[in-house]
Amino acid sequence: MNPSPSSMRPGAVWCDTDGQPIQAHGGGVMFHQGVYYWYGENKDVPNMPGTERVEVVGVSCYSSRDLLNWKNEGVVLPAVPDDPDSELHPLKVVERPKVLHNARTGKFVMWMHIDEIGYQYARAGVAVADRPEGPFTYLGSVRPCDADSRDLTVFQDDDGAAYLVTGVLWHSAIQIVRLSDDYLRADGEFVRVLQRPGPPTARESPAVFKRRGRYYLVSSGTTGWKPNEAEYAVADRMLGEWTTQGNPCTGPDAELTFHAQNTHVLPVAGGDDAFIVMFDRWNPHNLRDSRYVWLPAEFSEAGELRIPWRDEWSVEMLTKGSPMAETVTVDRIDSRQAYAEGEVLRKTSAIYVNPAGSDDCEGPVATLARALEIARSTGVRRIVLQAGRYMDVALQLGPQDSDLVIEAAEGETVTLVGGHVLTGWTDEGDDCIACPVPGVREGTRDFRS
Ligand code: DGJ
Repeated sequence: MNPSPSSMRPGAVWCDTDGQPIQAHGGGVMFHQGVYYWYGENKDVPNMPGTERVEVVGVSCYSSRDLLNWKNEGVVLPAVPDDPDSELHPLKVVERPKVLHNARTGKFVMWMHIDEIGYQYARAGVAVADRPEGPFTYLGSVRPCDADSRDLTVFQDDDGAAYLVTGVLWHSAIQIVRLSDDYLRADGEFVRVLQRPGPPTARESPAVFKRRGRYYLVSSGTTGWKPNEAEYAVADRMLGEWTTQGNPCTGPDAELTFHAQNTHVLPVAGGDDAFIVMFDRWNPHNLRDSRYVWLPAEFSEAGELRIPWRDEWSVEMLTKGSPMAETVTVDRIDSRQAYAEGEVLRKTSAIYVNPAGSDDCEGPVATLARALEIARSTGVRRIVLQAGRYMDVALQLGPQDSDLVIEAAEGETVTLVGGHVLTGWTDEGDDCIACPVPGVREGTRDFRS
């Protein structure tokens, strides 16, 4: 047992803050306003006699600020036992739920694999909530881009675009489809990648993350609950070409993914280039006792992904820097300015950014990408980063942003972690002067003072 854990122990029983084993299998983690939310399959019932399945209980949610101690927020999308036709009926299949926050609508959107016992129905279900703790309202299921849909994940890019990534065409490809702006529809532009003849080499359990402007897709083979060898692929664009890279796992039983199957890759907020790869160690004969294997990702200089086995590890090693981590700390971000030194900057308001903020309510927004979106739509030309660590900062700036000023708030330290690329400023000549930081106040700035 691992009650009130102080370290990660992959494969150990992991209890929530009530001392109960966590029920969030095939899950994913969303970070929102300083809190991690872990959604997954609740399998807390006995296996149906003589089978390797349990009745659907629903989707659980747990919350945590430290990734170790998780509070049970309850079953946020429960099964519907009263209606045998419901896609959420206990005799159906509801697997691999993943949740994204949509900054435009303010809603939390859950996608999940919906199926029937024989896995012939193969659809993607969607549910929506006003709060991360639910309750989620089930909206129904679709066949994205007219294909079947099995193991799935979702991925949200820095610019707010989101993608559904799912096994299609009877286990012969992974389909990546751009979701609609509200994340509720999966009928946008799409590609079919990682094509295989079928099981066991067909890819399942896709998990996507982005590091330094590059996309990574980790997946398993197709052997039911039995473990197999993981594989990852990389791409420069979500809808671009994906190149297979091989097995990222190293150490004992790496060719069996440490007797587990990946489900999600979690970027650690406040970490230095830190990602946790989440796996499920399935127990087909007692699925409720399936365990979690969470391991830190490592990267070579060339960006190759490595996931070494560890018996035990501490989350602090991610937040306080690991040998593979790279952090750039700045107290000022230079940007090109359209006004000359000595000029009085006209009174403007600024868009404040704070990693612990929210992209959907008043006050500081949480991401630089969202601030850029607001700047473009409102004409506000100043973005102020408040103290904190900004994960995977990657902005594509265009000509319309040439007079945008991005600066750190006075006396505060801003750390850009991960893909800290601010691209688009081509002019680094004489007219690219340092951004004025000392004395910055909301509203005005007098260069002569
Ligand atoms: C493998 C999938 O990845 C799991 O989510 C689950 O559907 C099992 N197959 C069922 O055998």
